[in-house]
Amino acid sequence: MSNSARPAPTADPAAYRDLIAGSVRDPEEFWGAAARDIDWIRRPQTVLDSSRAPFYDWFPDGVLNVCYNALDRHVVHGRADQTALIYDSPVTGTQRSYTYAELLDQVARFAGVLRNLGVAKGDRVVIYLPMIPEAVISMLACARIGAVHSVVFGGFAPAELAARIEDAEPTVIVSASCGVEPTRIVEYKPMLDEAIERSSHKPAHTVIVQREQATAQMGERDLDWKTLMKPDAIPTAECVPVQSTDPLYILYTSGTTGKPKGIVRDSGGYATALRWSMTNLYGVQPGETWFCGSDVGWVVGHTYIVYAPLLTGATTVLFEGKPVGTPDAGAYWRLIQEHGIVAAFSAPTAIRAIKKVDPDAKLLADYDLSSLRTLFLAGERLDPDTWQWATDALGVPVIDNWWQTETGWPITINPMGIGALPIKPGSSGPATAGYDVQVLDPTGTPVAPGVEGAICIRQPLPPGTLPTLWRDDERYVDSYLSAFPGYYLSGDGGYVDEDGYVFIMGRTDDVLNVAGHRLSTGSIEEALAGHPSVAECAVIGVRDALKGQVPRALVVLKAGIESDAEGEQALQAELIQRVRSEVGAVAALNRVDVVDALPKTRSGKILRKTMRQIADGDEALVPSTIEDVTVLDGLRGVLEAQA
Ligand code: COA
Ligand code: AMP
Repeated sequence: MSNSARPAPTADPAAYRDLIAGSVRDPEEFWGAAARDIDWIRRPQTVLDSSRAPFYDWFPDGVLNVCYNALDRHVVHGRADQTALIYDSPVTGTQRSYTYAELLDQVARFAGVLRNLGVAKGDRVVIYLPMIPEAVISMLACARIGAVHSVVFGGFAPAELAARIEDAEPTVIVSASCGVEPTRIVEYKPMLDEAIERSSHKPAHTVIVQREQATAQMGERDLDWKTLMKPDAIPTAECVPVQSTDPLYILYTSGTTGKPKGIVRDSGGYATALRWSMTNLYGVQPGETWFCGSDVGWVVGHTYIVYAPLLTGATTVLFEGKPVGTPDAGAYWRLIQEHGIVAAFSAPTAIRAIKKVDPDAKLLADYDLSSLRTLFLAGERLDPDTWQWATDALGVPVIDNWWQTETGWPITINPMGIGALPIKPGSSGPATAGYDVQVLDPTGTPVAPGVEGAICIRQPLPPGTLPTLWRDDERYVDSYLSAFPGYYLSGDGGYVDEDGYVFIMGRTDDVLNVAGHRLSTGSIEEALAGHPSVAECAVIGVRDALKGQVPRALVVLKAGIESDAEGEQALQAELIQRVRSEVGAVAALNRVDVVDALPKTRSGKILRKTMRQIADGDEALVPSTIEDVTVLDGLRGVLEAQA
């Protein structure tokens, strides 16, 4: 079950600690040097501007174009014929490669299309696409003309898409006729039409990629991708210079409420951090092939499918498939062999799914994985069992790394490019450059090593992390900076050990993590509460062997609504369907219990955390402010029942 991959160099832990301490002490020096790997139109004279603290600006006087850095400069410097993007789609039986020159041609052409449709610098473009090359082309085309893209994950339903359209106010939306899931075709166009219908903001145009698996009905607003992209139909667009602090994209993520947070990503800071991280943290050099099995709709996809590998001049694999079932649990191993992948990145859930189907990793024997140096896993806690299984099966270092949509790149990781540090299963590794990670107690005092608390990062955060929320500085401060002034509140709890290794134990708020997908309890609750029979409801995330967590719902019916067991079953099915069509299939809600009342504090706050602890079989902390403890006691049986 092992192979002959070349071992990673080892790093000296003390020297690495010094390097990181230096990056925190003197960010100007550290990131000023890293910025030299980016081609600037006007080189920044100032590295970090703290004059607006608690808001920070990286490279404020720098001017660049991120698309130029991801494509044009590689073409100029001899990589025109190197493969930039490999599209590998077992669900459609397609494989297609683009050299840097070919990808540049497509991107410049689509940038021309967008400009022709009235998209100017600073305008937003929503991208609602499956894992097809047009997604990457659209993102880079926006970057080329200084437009701000906002990619919406294809698994989200119309209401979620509508909320993002409403907030981002796009000039154009790019979408497709369908996505292809292993067992069904998901028609995107009706969902797009419904989302636009629901939103008070209407885009001027929608550009639709017609796929052969389904044909979208075209309306007045809709334009066909292929027609627009015909050679010479519309002049190509050149790169537009943007300020380093200009937004490259907005990516919406789940908070605790139903209203998603528009995480803003800047241009120069992000490009600098990503280029540095690709080689120093993930150990990938220009010209090497890398695979990240996320989705372009998530931050991991933005950063490590699209921007970081292309900024590095590496080859990136865009995989339209699943770790299992497309066609089998050897899908990742095939990719590694076929494309000569040197490092791969996925989520622990994917490994658990492979392990479930192929527990002895027998399928590995069919493939030559000698190119693979490292497997990186992130998106949720990497449990030691899964880590051990992957380590034994692959015979290469399996590296956990912790990050969030907000940070855009890892906060903690074992720096495989600089050199491997000892691995501690259960830990996502030590903090990396620019992150001063501190665990605070409720009074805001740093705790001793090994003691659990709120994981926070002392400001300023390094480049590439969120400068604010889209058009909402106040919510940015309220959500992240007000709990402990001077610190960014990550929302995760855990501890740091004597050696500086961080152990993430889970969210301290009500955010769910289902198969590495971040979802809000609030949006699922909103969908349930919209049902005419529901008086109130609560959603909790309970432990799941495959997906890490799955949601469970408890609903209280309106007075006077009574039903027999059959009626209750029908209602439960309706509620599950409602969440599927309002939030999306990814929510994976499959258990709803009708209960008499929900446990609350005297001020009316629902005790989700206590219910979650009971459902998980953990010690339940019942707050002294509970309004009526008998309500909670009455629910124990329901909560303890397996989903
Ligand atoms: N468009 C439309 N529907 C989608 C979708 C998309 N882009 N992605 C997922 N869905 C649907 C699925 O078809 C499924 O629908 P179903 O209930 O009708 O079967 C539902 O959403 C749940 O999907 P998923 O979470 O993918 O679960 P699964 O049971 O189909 O597969 C795994 C389980 C482990 C194979 C899968 O979750 C996986 O590959 N996870 C990797 C996680 C990952 O990359 N996370 C990103 C963070 S790094
Ligand atoms: P997202 O913003 O979708 O990337 O989700 C971020 C959240 O996922 C974090 O706040 C964590 O709760 C969780 N997460 C991500 N990576 C890890 C990890 N390596 N270990 C534990 N939790 C993680």
